[in-house]
Amino acid sequence: MKNKNVVLIGFMGAGKSLISNKLANMLNLDVISTDAIIKKQEGREIARIFEESGEAYFRELERKTVVNIKDRKNTIIDCGGGVVINPDNVADLKKNGLLIYLKASAETIYKRIKGHKHRPLLNVTSPKQSIEDLLTKREPFYSQADYVIETDEKTLNEICDEILRIINDE
Ligand code: S3P
Repeated sequence: MKNKNVVLIGFMGAGKSLISNKLANMLNLDVISTDAIIKKQEGREIARIFEESGEAYFRELERKTVVNIKDRKNTIIDCGGGVVINPDNVADLKKNGLLIYLKASAETIYKRIKGHKHRPLLNVTSPKQSIEDLLTKREPFYSQADYVIETDEKTLNEICDEILRIINDE
């Protein structure tokens, strides 16, 4: 595990940001988020980027962000939920990192993100259906992870402990 990054992937609402920050704290490592980098660079919220410039533009920004961060080491990387749909991103992130998929069911995701307006892809008339459809479509991408952690019935601490065990065994 020496010098490697811990790369958290998974659907919106899977807990990537919360867990990234907690892990970074526990391990005394840097934490970066692709969404936060994009927001800062653009000086606009993600929802605004989608609205004003479209999803394709956002995906280009996401790609550039991965290229810029791919050579980092000892970093917890919190990836936006769609980062893995680009195979180049997966290949780049795998070079220096351990990809961990935080898996959650559509039901759990729906409960967690209900009422959150800042997620453009789910700010639709039937978010539950969109989650189910998108999750099914995305599953093959998320499954490219080195490890999968089921998060549905687990607390934040339990999930972090599981990740720490993985890191120690590597
Ligand atoms: C997206 C997930 C979001 C953000 C954007 C698109 C996706 O990040 O990058 O709204 O395509 O799944 P989170 O997974 O951190 O919510």
